[in-house]
Amino acid sequence: MIHIDEKNRVFTLYTNTSSYQFAVDEHGFLLHTYYGRRAGGDMRHLLRRADRGFSPNCCEEGHTRTFSLDTQPQEYPCAGTGDYRLPALECETPNGAFAAQLYYRAHRVSKGKYSIPGLPAFYDEGGQADTLEVDLEDPVTGLLVTLRYGVFEEYDLITRAVTVRNGGKEPLRLTRVMSASLDMNGPLDLITFDGAHTQERHPSRRAVQPGMQGVSSVRGTTSHQHNNFVVLCRPDATEQQGDCWGAALVYSGNFEAMAERSQFGSTRLSLGIGGYRFCWKLEPGEAFDAPEAAFVFSPEGLGGMSRRLHRAIRENLCRGYWKHRRRPVLLNTWEAAYFDFDEQKLLEIARCAADTGVELLVMDDGWFGERNDDLRGLGDWFVNTAKLPDGLGELTRRINEMGLRFGIWVEPEMVNEDSDLYRAHPDWALQIPGRPVTRGRSQLVLDFSRPEVRDHVYSQIKAVLQSGSIDYVKWDMNRSLSDAWSAALPADRQGEVYHRFVLGVYDMLERMQADFPQMLIEGCSGGGGRFDCGMLYYTPQIWCSDNTDAIDRLALQHGSSFCYPVSTMGAHVSAVPNEQTGRTVSIETRAVVAMSGTFGYELDPRHLSDEERAAMRAQINRFHALYDLIQYGDYDRLTAPGGSFTAWQHTAPDASQALVSVVTGPATSNPPFDTVYPRGLVPDAEYTVNGRDTLRGDVLMYGGIPLPFEKGDYRAMQFHLVRQG
Ligand code: DGJ
Repeated sequence: MIHIDEKNRVFTLYTNTSSYQFAVDEHGFLLHTYYGRRAGGDMRHLLRRADRGFSPNCCEEGHTRTFSLDTQPQEYPCAGTGDYRLPALECETPNGAFAAQLYYRAHRVSKGKYSIPGLPAFYDEGGQADTLEVDLEDPVTGLLVTLRYGVFEEYDLITRAVTVRNGGKEPLRLTRVMSASLDMNGPLDLITFDGAHTQERHPSRRAVQPGMQGVSSVRGTTSHQHNNFVVLCRPDATEQQGDCWGAALVYSGNFEAMAERSQFGSTRLSLGIGGYRFCWKLEPGEAFDAPEAAFVFSPEGLGGMSRRLHRAIRENLCRGYWKHRRRPVLLNTWEAAYFDFDEQKLLEIARCAADTGVELLVMDDGWFGERNDDLRGLGDWFVNTAKLPDGLGELTRRINEMGLRFGIWVEPEMVNEDSDLYRAHPDWALQIPGRPVTRGRSQLVLDFSRPEVRDHVYSQIKAVLQSGSIDYVKWDMNRSLSDAWSAALPADRQGEVYHRFVLGVYDMLERMQADFPQMLIEGCSGGGGRFDCGMLYYTPQIWCSDNTDAIDRLALQHGSSFCYPVSTMGAHVSAVPNEQTGRTVSIETRAVVAMSGTFGYELDPRHLSDEERAAMRAQINRFHALYDLIQYGDYDRLTAPGGSFTAWQHTAPDASQALVSVVTGPATSNPPFDTVYPRGLVPDAEYTVNGRDTLRGDVLMYGGIPLPFEKGDYRAMQFHLVRQG
């Protein structure tokens, strides 16, 4: 609900448990008053004035010294006019000045949710959302800024977006346009999700300290190193209680998520593309749309925050045919065969996979051009007939005959120098004239800011997808951008390359969705290098990490779960010893971990024993039986990863059943008696545990479930709790 006190010009966005408020002051500045637990009224009493040395005063107040933009909480702060904290907007005028100051002009409320042309955004199908738009103006430059707010009451979700238009007569250069800025009072912790390739999204929590702190990416993608989802929470917030604000950028390129604690103790969170290597020229009349930022508030701790986000992402960000459909259990050939396969081998793998209940075979990298290793072939999207002499039509027909569907791997944004594409169009790769190229995995990045490059690659891939019965695409991206210079843009627009590249990727994905509406597209960037809310708008699942080790995955999936639902996390059972770590754990442990994702296999089933194949069959059946509970249930992180055991829980929204999964740590002699404590059950209802004992919900939750006392490393167990009566 959006409430506007027209007389006092106070705007309040209400969700079920939160309120978000800002007001127009007597000078026309938009000041942020409050964001937190739902509270009934006007919060302008929180706006305080004081004469503060070295915080300059705006001219509207003459020589009064008690009002400074440097001390006021602002809704969309600008650089260069007296606020020294992180700006949301910075703009260079033709005379070389970097300054803007925004004044309120108008507002509008509408039913439904705004969208952003060419960019992903949360959407509203059922009339659950409302939109507020607020127009601001900088009278000196003529800059017109529209702030947009989408309010989803049910999920306590507030989205924000910004359009900047040049209403003046001269070109302007935008050097920073953040999607959201948020000024908060009181002590706060900042949680970021950090790591490296094969070690993505490990939570890191610290108290917000004076000055700036945060994370960013200048790699052209969200990155393995830092996710563009961050959390602010009160220092006492835990999984189960306390105020938490989750903030996600609905975007897949460079970003900045920065918190700044000011000299007077307030904290400003700034979230958006960021200023580093960004510069966008805006001719008179032109507009720039910043990507969307999404905030979720939870008074019920980090667990409550995640569950709200999971529902919002599943229901109002992921789209299309697969949104509510069961996704197939797949077997991917990458760790089974790498580049070394032909039709015969694929058919043998398929036959074996079909026999265990696998539903879709994914032919990973290596099927096209001269792609026999990772030195060549990218850009040549036609079938390698030495490997697949009968083409995809015949291959997919034979695979379909086995009762399996078929999927294919592509990496559209990349090119190898050793490829027909590069030989014909060397200028289609991002590279700086006169400088040697910078390779990543021996490949270069195509200039997706150029429509002709996208058209060429897309038409090749489209023809491939039409040449057989293909139901799934894995869209990969295996290096960070560098040398971000486009041969198609003038010098004063080179600062636009990174963002134009991302817009190009979105354009390609949108085309693929339109041409193949039933295609299941799985995102990937060397695993989880582009795991973000932007990609989830196009690809309802993303390969979580190139690390398939089940024990490392416990931490990876735990960290990812703070924002991203289970249904979005690509997770597979791979062979042992594990390719990345050399560790061996049982096939049951590997399956229990992969089941808390989209579930599939990444191994050669021909090399499994009869016993392992039987286990695989049983696991797939178990996954099918528990599918709705796992994919749509509420998720609880029962423990942090590590320690003597790691546990998590999926609970049906009506608490009629729950699945508690546990993986123990490395074996020790004489171990403790461990107990796992389920959550969210109906206290006075009876539950059966794995179809055997019957116990009350409160007995299970407060007394706990004793873990069986067995020897061995990394044992997995699941407790299926089903409510009786
Ligand atoms: C990186 C992906 O994450 C892997 O799963 C695999 O598809 C390889 N690329 C193929 O080159």
